[in-house]
Amino acid sequence: MTNPYQWIEKSLLTIHQVNWYRSVTTIDSLPGAEISINGQKLINFASNDYLGLAGDKRLIKASIEATQKYGTGSTGSRLLSGHRDLHQTLEKAIANLKQTEDALIFSSGYLANLGTITALVGQKDLILGDNYNHSSLKNGAKLSGATYLEYGHNNIADLHNKLQENRQKYRRCLMVSDSVFSMDGDLCPLPDLISLAESFECMLLIDEAHATGVMGKTGAGCREYFDCDGENLIQMGTLSKALGSLGGYVAGSGKLIDFLRNRAATWIYTTGLSPADTAAALTAIDIIKEEPQRRENLWHNVTFLREKTAQFNLISSNSAILCVGLANAETALNLAKTLKKEGIFAPAIRPPTVPTSRLRFSVMATHTLNHLQQLITILEKNLIT
Ligand SMILES: Cc1ncc(COP(=O)(O)O)c(C=O)c1O
Repeated sequence: MTNPYQWIEKSLLTIHQVNWYRSVTTIDSLPGAEISINGQKLINFASNDYLGLAGDKRLIKASIEATQKYGTGSTGSRLLSGHRDLHQTLEKAIANLKQTEDALIFSSGYLANLGTITALVGQKDLILGDNYNHSSLKNGAKLSGATYLEYGHNNIADLHNKLQENRQKYRRCLMVSDSVFSMDGDLCPLPDLISLAESFECMLLIDEAHATGVMGKTGAGCREYFDCDGENLIQMGTLSKALGSLGGYVAGSGKLIDFLRNRAATWIYTTGLSPADTAAALTAIDIIKEEPQRRENLWHNVTFLREKTAQFNLISSNSAILCVGLANAETALNLAKTLKKEGIFAPAIRPPTVPTSRLRFSVMATHTLNHLQQLITILEKNLIT
């Protein structure tokens, strides 16, 4: 008799052999620009906590108070016993930040994408997605049963051709794109996407996971950054990055949100967001409004680091994500190890997550000049031969 699970061991071996093996790193301090790993103090360039809010005392206090008032769990799906006034207050705050009619919060950004895409399209429909899109958009597209075509990264001519060739064969069409691409840090050409969506009568969903709280004058995201109309735009995002909490959201028209409340399986058949996470995200949105200097610091840091690292093989970026391209997975892993020894925590990102290996640096509003300078010095030492 052969063991039906034997293939797993072989598969793991292959993963090791090609340097694609992944494992977790335990952080034993509060999140922030400086963290501790196994007692070693490191400068953190691996976090999505762009505004430094995940360890903020006010978010922590709000979470504790919400837990004391409402308990640790929401105890049921939102449509049954899991709805609290806090959820609605957060949804109104998100709609206000995004300048949309309404919003809906999900248990994670990943689930927001899966639930929204599968609710909007089915077998008779078409999805066109950027080939660098986040896994949650790609898997949402596959799960929906719609015909799913990918266009070249930010390649508007390719998208236009694919629309021209295919649009009329399908009932509905949904275009999907990250607004800030998570592994490169570049932006989608949003005004072009909006104009194509209008010309070809398509719905358009953008993933604002890395844009929320970061892009645009008030932190509303890429629609604000590009100053474009996009009245019918479906804007999805996460509460887990610049908002320092956990959960996802979709913001858009009142009708869209009402429809999702009735059709998005990953919202209907799952427990409502915990009171602690909801309260933390709500407090973060207040802080984003009241403390624009956080975003100003972030952009000051991004500009400084981009200028000082221009000598390396920087992947073109317009966000708080900066990547240095490297020859292969092994070089990326070795450099990440060296950096860690020297007090810098930054992950090696390798295939299959991305087509080419790189070190990815996430800049935070709370990085000091000294933190940035240390990174630059260590990169110069290790990358200039
Ligand atoms: C572009 C993008 N979309 C969606 C997600 C998923 O968000 P969450 O972590 O809230 O599930 C992420 C985060 O990893 C992301 O980077």
